[in-house]
Parts: sequence; C-alpha cells; structure tokens
Amino acid sequence: MRPHALLPATAAAGVAVLGYSAVVERNWFALRRHEVPVLPPGARPLRVLHISDAHLTPGRHRLLSFLRTLDALEPDLVVNTGDSIASKLSVTPLLDALGPLLDRPGVFVFGSNDLYAPTMKNPARYLWRTSSDEHKRHVPDLPWAELGSGLEAAGWMDANNRRGRIKAGELDIEVAGVHDSHIKRDRYDKIAGPADPAADLRLGVLHSPEPAVMDRFVADGFDLLLAGHTHGGQVCLPVFGALVTNCGIDRARARGLSQHPAQPGTGPGKRAFLHVSGGLGTSPYAPVRLACRPEATLLTLVPRIG
Ligand SMILES: [Fe+2]
Repeated sequence: MRPHALLPATAAAGVAVLGYSAVVERNWFALRRHEVPVLPPGARPLRVLHISDAHLTPGRHRLLSFLRTLDALEPDLVVNTGDSIASKLSVTPLLDALGPLLDRPGVFVFGSNDLYAPTMKNPARYLWRTSSDEHKRHVPDLPWAELGSGLEAAGWMDANNRRGRIKAGELDIEVAGVHDSHIKRDRYDKIAGPADPAADLRLGVLHSPEPAVMDRFVADGFDLLLAGHTHGGQVCLPVFGALVTNCGIDRARARGLSQHPAQPGTGPGKRAFLHVSGGLGTSPYAPVRLACRPEATLLTLVPRIG
C-alpha cells in the first residue's frame, strides 16, 4: 500500500479512538477494590470509599448517577481528595449526588480545580509540563468555600492543612491533610509532628501525591496516604500505562495501591501504604480518557500481616 493511501485509514482510526475516549470510556465508571493490611491485630475490617477528581459540571448525569450508587457499598469512611467541581453551579448537584454518603464519616481536601475554573489549553501540553505553573490567577473564581461548608455541615472533616481525630467503624483514626501543593497552598508545618501511636490508624490525605510531601507524612509515622490528581494518567497506553503523572510521582504509581517510598531505604526510613485514585472525571476542556477508566475505590483495611 502506498503511504498516501494510509492517511485516510489513520485519520479514521484516530477519530474512532477519540470518539471512544470521549463518549464511551469517559462515562464507563469502574469500582476498584483493594485490601490494605494496615490495622492493628484483631481489628475489624474498615471499608474506606476513596473518591477524587470529579471535576463536576452539572450536565454530567452519568457521573452523578454513578456517585449515587456508591452509598450501597456501605463504607465506614469516605475520603474525597479534591478537584470536585469545575463550575460555579456544581456544588448543589455534587452534594445531592453524595446524598447519604454525607451521613457517614468523611474527610476532604481541596485540589486547585476546586478554586479555579477550568480554562482552554492545548490538551497536549500535559505531556511536557505539570499543572503547577498553570495557576497564575490569585483570586479563586469557584465556590470552594461553599463546597467546604456543605461538606463540613454534614460532619465531614476539612483536612486542608489540618489535623484531627475521627471515629469510623470501631476505630479511632488520626487524620492529617494538606491543601494542594500545585497552587502552593500546602502547609505541612501546620500539621507536622509525630503521629499518635495510640491511634488505631494514622491517615494522611493530600490532593497531589508529591513525594516530598509524602516523605513528611511517612517520617511522622502515618500508615496510609490517600491522594488523587493524576487521573491515573488519563490517556494511557495498554501495557505501558500512564504516559505522565502531572506531578512528582513516578508513572508506576500513577494509580492504585502501592507504598511510599516505593523502595525501602530511599525515603525517611519508614514506609506507608499509598493509594492514588485515578479519579472520576476530567477537565471539561480535555474530555477524554483512554485505557484509564474513571473510577472510585473501595479500600478494605484489614489487620497488618505479622
Ligand atoms: Fe483533577
């Protein structure tokens, strides 16, 4: 076949992949499950629902419908690692869809996209740069405070540069979190200090899984870190996985359960379990997901091994 004869076929394949990514996979929600051996011996399992990166606009009815199914999992704790909204009109639909999940113990942090409305960018730029230098605006234009108030009114803990204690299931959990480091709002110094060894679980929550920030959580003795931000790479290649992570974490840990540091002896001398959510959504201006289905995760925490 002559080269010029390949062009129409290549273009048709490209259109098909784009259509699949934007219409099918972006709305093909997955529920992932992992078991995490992080509790004291003899503790009863704790079910933690981890959601992240909904980037909700009010018209995303399939996403809202998926959120409404999650309470049936009967989680003991819900953790939202940010980037929940992408419109001024999204807070009420989001809270409505969370519905009975708001009656359960919950924790949240914000991502940059809870503060700043999405803007049109070259969608390919994410391949060569992170989003940390894309937020030159200083006055938030999304109702992040209204979102936070709604979640706090339901009893969820605001973990943005805060540390506290919650009860979930039968467990006493120490929680610490930071605001988004990509807009330089993380203040680890405000929450720094050894985690309480008397707590049943020490949980760290952050939007972007930046290794330097996670090093500090681990050095302070936190057992489990939950983060989002990466969208699992959002556009992945089969087998190869994420092309980029849009932050400091390596591609292999762009989504799913791993440990931090990834290799023993490369960090603060301790290790924690790390779960990075691949997220529920996308920016409205990059509405595609490929080989990286949108997701929520049910983590079942069980006693430590040995
Ligand atoms: Fe996001």
